[in-house]
Amino acid sequence: MSTDDTTTETDESTSKCGASETTQSSSSSTSSSKCGASTSSESSKSKCDASSSATKKKTEEKVGSTVDDFEGDPGSLTAVGLGPGEPEGMTQRAKAELLDAEHIVGYTTYTELLPDEIIEQADDMYNTPMCGEVSRTEEAIDRALAGNDVAIIGSGDPNVYALAGLALEIVESKGATASMLDFEVVPGVPAAQSCGARLGAPLVNDSVSVSLSDHLTPMPEIESRLHAVAGESFTISIYNPWSRKRRENFQKACEILLTHRDEDTPVGIVHGASRDDEAVEITTLGELEAYGETDLVDMTTTIVVGNEETYVWDGRMVTPRGYESKYDY
Ligand SMILES: C[S@@+](CC[C@H](N)C(=O)[O-])C[C@H]1O[C@@H](n2cnc3c(N)ncnc32)[C@H](O)[C@@H]1O
Repeated sequence: MSTDDTTTETDESTSKCGASETTQSSSSSTSSSKCGASTSSESSKSKCDASSSATKKKTEEKVGSTVDDFEGDPGSLTAVGLGPGEPEGMTQRAKAELLDAEHIVGYTTYTELLPDEIIEQADDMYNTPMCGEVSRTEEAIDRALAGNDVAIIGSGDPNVYALAGLALEIVESKGATASMLDFEVVPGVPAAQSCGARLGAPLVNDSVSVSLSDHLTPMPEIESRLHAVAGESFTISIYNPWSRKRRENFQKACEILLTHRDEDTPVGIVHGASRDDEAVEITTLGELEAYGETDLVDMTTTIVVGNEETYVWDGRMVTPRGYESKYDY
């Protein structure tokens, strides 16, 4: 069960989680399971790159092992949010949790963001490329059920379009419980807040987030959510705004926003907050669609659409909280 093209077959048979079996493994960080109880998926190559999901069929990713397949005392499972990317953006608690973890499981991009001291102290790192989130999460759970203290990591916060919920759903489907794994969520700074900080103060009043990914939510549902929130006075943080296969979703989102909001509405675009390729721009809603074809807008971008009171001052987006109606300043 491997999704990594660089994975090579070896005769490695030592399990890092108690159960033994012959597995595939690459050299250091590996995308092959070190855990005996395996998923029944033939491949964790997810259908997440499928462009249209309105008529979604189930993938072959399935939960394989159950709690009865493991002997001995379980370890622990913690979902840890890394924040936007730079080590300094990680909370002290997240860092402490990762330094304590025996196994760290995550999408390759995120394991690569970890500071060396965390990577060096872990007994094992398990990473897979994008997608395969069900099998990756199951791998983390199996390792914990086999007795290891496991951290499953993701960018931002584990509760924001992330794996905390999936982890609990799979734990339940295995017949295990959150309590037996001491399941915990360690929060991280979500992208909306990291990006809001780069833009000034656009999120100071009521705000909502909308993801344009139609991997799990059909586009008509996303459209109706966008209509609902754009028609109210929220600032809107748009996650997963654009990919080659989601070009039309982005165009459609811009159209919907423009049916509810003025074309002069300020919009902030933040690409790769706190990462090496960070880029920030403030534009208007009328101009937004054209940015879809630039490097600024992709799957590591968050877009913040102002409400009807948001303005731009000195290069910063400002959304008044309402103080001006009560106080003189
Ligand atoms: C699957 S969601 C994960 C969100 C994450 N759990 C959080 O709390 O931010 C991935 C999306 O988060 C946003 N994102 C994550 N990291 C970002 C960053 N450093 N800068 C801008 N947007 C980011 C992008 O919209 C990306 O498509």
